[in-house]
Amino acid sequence: MTTMMLRSTVVACSLMCCQPLPAQIPSPAAIRSTAAIPSQLTDANSERKLEALLQKMTLDEKVGQLVQYSAGQTTGPGTGRTDYDDMIRKGEVGALFNITTAHDINAYQRIAVEQSRLHIPLLFGLDVIHGFRTEFPIPLGMASSWDPELIERTARVAAREASASGIRWTFSPMVDIARDARWGRISEGSGEDPYLGAAMARAYVRGYQGARLDATDSIAACAKHYVGYGAAEGGRDYNAVELSERTLRQFYLPPFHAAVDAGAATLMSAFNSLNGVPSSANPFTLKQILRKEWGFQGLVDSDYTAVAELVAHGVANDGPTAARKAFLAGVDMDMVSSLYHENLAQLVRSREVPEMDVDEAVRRVLRVKFALGLFEHPYADETREAAAMLQPESLSLARTAAERSLVLLKNASFSGGAPVLPLSNKARTIALIGPLADDIYDMPGSSSAQGRPEDVITLRMALTQRVGADRVRYAKGSEIIGGSEEQLAEALKTAEQSDVVILALGENAPEMTGEAASRAYLGLPGRQQQLLEKITATGKPAVLLLFSGRPLTLPWAFEHVPAVLAAWFPGVQAGPALVRTIFGETNPSGKLVVSWPRSVGQEPLYYNALSTGRPAVAIDLTHPPRNGDEKYTSRYIDEQNSPQFPFGYGLSYTEYRYGNLQMDKTQLSAKALNDELHGGARTASKAMTISAEITNIGTQAGEETVQLYVRLRGTNIAQPVRALSGFQRIALAPGETRKVTFALGAEAFAFWNEQNRFSVEPARVTLWVSPDSSRGSEAILQITN
Ligand code: NOJ
Repeated sequence: MTTMMLRSTVVACSLMCCQPLPAQIPSPAAIRSTAAIPSQLTDANSERKLEALLQKMTLDEKVGQLVQYSAGQTTGPGTGRTDYDDMIRKGEVGALFNITTAHDINAYQRIAVEQSRLHIPLLFGLDVIHGFRTEFPIPLGMASSWDPELIERTARVAAREASASGIRWTFSPMVDIARDARWGRISEGSGEDPYLGAAMARAYVRGYQGARLDATDSIAACAKHYVGYGAAEGGRDYNAVELSERTLRQFYLPPFHAAVDAGAATLMSAFNSLNGVPSSANPFTLKQILRKEWGFQGLVDSDYTAVAELVAHGVANDGPTAARKAFLAGVDMDMVSSLYHENLAQLVRSREVPEMDVDEAVRRVLRVKFALGLFEHPYADETREAAAMLQPESLSLARTAAERSLVLLKNASFSGGAPVLPLSNKARTIALIGPLADDIYDMPGSSSAQGRPEDVITLRMALTQRVGADRVRYAKGSEIIGGSEEQLAEALKTAEQSDVVILALGENAPEMTGEAASRAYLGLPGRQQQLLEKITATGKPAVLLLFSGRPLTLPWAFEHVPAVLAAWFPGVQAGPALVRTIFGETNPSGKLVVSWPRSVGQEPLYYNALSTGRPAVAIDLTHPPRNGDEKYTSRYIDEQNSPQFPFGYGLSYTEYRYGNLQMDKTQLSAKALNDELHGGARTASKAMTISAEITNIGTQAGEETVQLYVRLRGTNIAQPVRALSGFQRIALAPGETRKVTFALGAEAFAFWNEQNRFSVEPARVTLWVSPDSSRGSEAILQITN
């Protein structure tokens, strides 16, 4: 079923990112944000209280509000400090993180509120990334659902649980665009597309912050890592980033803008340098774009020791300079490095930092605290903490989320019969093989807050419950890394004695995915490839379940194993979700949010690339070039350009037919579109509509994500070969047809132009309504002057 897509490499464009720009530049992300909520960070009453408080603060107390430490398990280099009680009492700390229970949080809060001079409550944060105690699938899996409403609901559950433990601030969502599967943190975001990323960013923010930030079960969101972090060179974590301003504006910024527009209370400045300027000392991104153009009123927190890292970056030779540069660039709060703590007051006294700027940063911190209602309700209710966790509705949502995150990559027939999946109940004995088949430690993913292994239902547990212990034959086969000949031999014997084999293979979540887990090889770790090949050679019908925080390059598996399902790390309900899917009680509907590479050498790989002047279209790339026509094109001589599976791709147990593509207009005026775009429109308009009819031509009910793509030709700046501009999930009964209509406004045709504005130009536009980024019938639209 994979349609080969011809791809091209991108010609990098080298605009500088430093020209001054007019304030309040609209961007597609802002305009698309139809559900934007007004900032919850200011109201007259709180502002009055805030100003009165600010008047009473000494310079040291002001600086204290800009200081944040990790007082629990560290998630980076140690802080070297443990005297938190004392510092809090003296008003030297504004926020703490990595403390996870209401009891411990209340203990610190009591010191702040009862023993510090001004009784200012602390703000407690944590990486609540895809659930607090109820662990949902990793964000890459969540995004594969293409279901923002589902994501919002999971974020709400996370907020409810985290706040019950006293945590009122999450360092989530991670909205970094990631085009390179080598980067371990691809697992923490929503993939490679800015339109989808913006939709997901809004959903997370809405879910965490709820209707009101001061509701005791709401938590402040933190959009991170601002900005470009996902474009780390070579996919190596923390590495330098080079992005033209256009690429930054069109691809990397939209999810941040969407999060800001949805009211995100905070934002985190990243580790990486961007075009030579470290993101945590970059006034262009932090002041010009974030504050001036987008009007962000919230708090900017640095990433973990990012302020101190300015020295290693080479833009500061000592701590005071690093503190000054970060602060003046727009970083309000210093996470962990203690350089604000040690230097900021002195920098004010020596007039290197204006006190009014410190006041402004303090206002931003206090605003978040007021908005969360911390001054009125500083403590968590310890008696209600336990009951908030793992509620039945939360677990049921975790199962739904896990089911929707699964992407069926391949489902061929076995020996000419029906497709292997769903498994028939006729298979009497099932061999369950692989190091992830009964694994309670990896299912919650790499960033699992308070997720506990004992909360996980594994595949083996769920399968045994579904079909009975007598029908399940389990053999580990190997470790994730390592293993023995005996394990392999036992697994082989188990497979040979069974009717069907389920293989559960993949990565180790905490060590191989997430932060500081970049990989140069993207195959199965350890002896798992050998295990896979040996088991497949038994000739038994096999299903491969892949657990990973990224796409893995497994060409052998995709050629030889009849059925492959990307399971990511599905969370606490991994087992039930997988078993229901394998047996067809639910129909897979997930679609890829990253292009799945054939080999590492293709990375970075993304569908919304530029064409190049020598695109390798209409050329068979499955073999080396045989003549000049085949050779002098943008291609590899030893690999195809196309991904193994394209962005947007995912199979189902049923099939869908797309037809009857119709547009209500075939011509639009660039001038009218620009008037709309620059007239300050804050909601998506409807310049035109395009529709298609989708029919479920199979025998099972299913849900399909219908995707809309656009390509502009004839513009002054080359545009991607396709850009996602809409998507809709629809449910279809067997035989049912539904018409899906997309309304497109000016923003769908706008791009960052030569004059550094989002603008529409005359163009020939191709539109596709399609099941993924590589297929679909097209329609043509003209944008005239
Ligand atoms: C470093 C990570 O980059 C960031 O995502 C996280 O929020 C902080 N550590 C705090 O744990």
